[in-house]
Amino acid sequence: MSMIEMVKAKARADVKCIVLPEGDEPRTVAAAEEIRREGLAEPVLLGDPEKIREEAKRQETDLSGIRIVDPEYSDKTETYAETLYELRKAKGLTREQADQLVRDPMYFGIMMVKMGDADGLVSGAVHSTGDMLRPALQIIKTSPGNKIVSSSFLMDCPNKSLGENGLLVYADCVVMPDPTAEELAYIAIAAADTAKKLCGIEVPKVALLSFSTKGSAKHEMVTKVQKATALAHQLAPDLLLDGELQFDAALVPEVGELKAKGSPVAGHANVLIFPDLQAGNIGYKITQRIGGAECFAVLQGLAKPCNDLSRGCSVDDIVNTVAMTAVQAQ
Ligand code: ACO
Repeated sequence: MSMIEMVKAKARADVKCIVLPEGDEPRTVAAAEEIRREGLAEPVLLGDPEKIREEAKRQETDLSGIRIVDPEYSDKTETYAETLYELRKAKGLTREQADQLVRDPMYFGIMMVKMGDADGLVSGAVHSTGDMLRPALQIIKTSPGNKIVSSSFLMDCPNKSLGENGLLVYADCVVMPDPTAEELAYIAIAAADTAKKLCGIEVPKVALLSFSTKGSAKHEMVTKVQKATALAHQLAPDLLLDGELQFDAALVPEVGELKAKGSPVAGHANVLIFPDLQAGNIGYKITQRIGGAECFAVLQGLAKPCNDLSRGCSVDDIVNTVAMTAVQAQ
């Protein structure tokens, strides 16, 4: 069974309510029908019901049984505005601004998740990553014990000798442009958790990547990864984790044996931690485009699951992301 089929089976076993703020967007409308047909979640579409139904009619999609909520006229709008104001007034948000913001489906959807009226949210077919992330960071906040929100990319590679039967977890490729050593340590621990809970990787083997292996080069960028490795060891002493390792030393058994003898991870890593967002974002795209891997992104560290789509996403991407969000919500 592929990784995504495994995730879908988990999602069906305990159905969660997932809100889709871009409710009248054509791919989202088609995805809602597919999500319901496959029993992956209870989707809720946000937006003007007339526009959503028009789009469904145009593409001959059957939305019967799918809840549509209009943030402009919902009986929750007032309560959400008041709560949003209370949450953000110390940051300078006025009651009037809160009234306006909750009528934006993105904020309304985030408030549904915050208030427990939905279990998770998927957005980004129209919104940019920053526009989707900011309200989630401001309102949902981090889960207890987590200092930061970051992301993991689940890379399903055609070469099944890599990682966990071809499955690799890459972090962070979306959120933190230039993490400190401490933030990098938190990213490593969160990615190991994602590998366990979402990908079914029972024993995450975490490599903190660099252009140096075990002191082969000296530079402040290398020192940051070394510090992050030491901190992650302190924070999660039971985790199989090592650094700093070059990409090949992390993945290829012979190179790992040569460059990092005795490492519990080198040559067999299944979770790869990139030193910054430039490396992570470029790295996942190389693996996808040149390596032919299928890739799936999730945010980690939020108190409740909210996930971002690429604006170039397909209907299948939305369906898959909803399934992953539902599993994170379980
Ligand atoms: N974890 C937890 N909280 C955070 C984080 C984080 N990583 N980053 C910001 N916050 C919080 C802040 O503390 C702040 O909270 P507060 O308002 O309650 O004090 C709030 O979020 C807003 O923070 P800002 O720093 O004002 O937000 P900013 O405008 O800098 O945006 C963002 C944060 C959106 C995450 C920014 O760092 C960003 O744009 N990251 C890159 C996104 C991106 O473009 N990724 C690559 C493309 S995606 C792809 O290719 C798939």
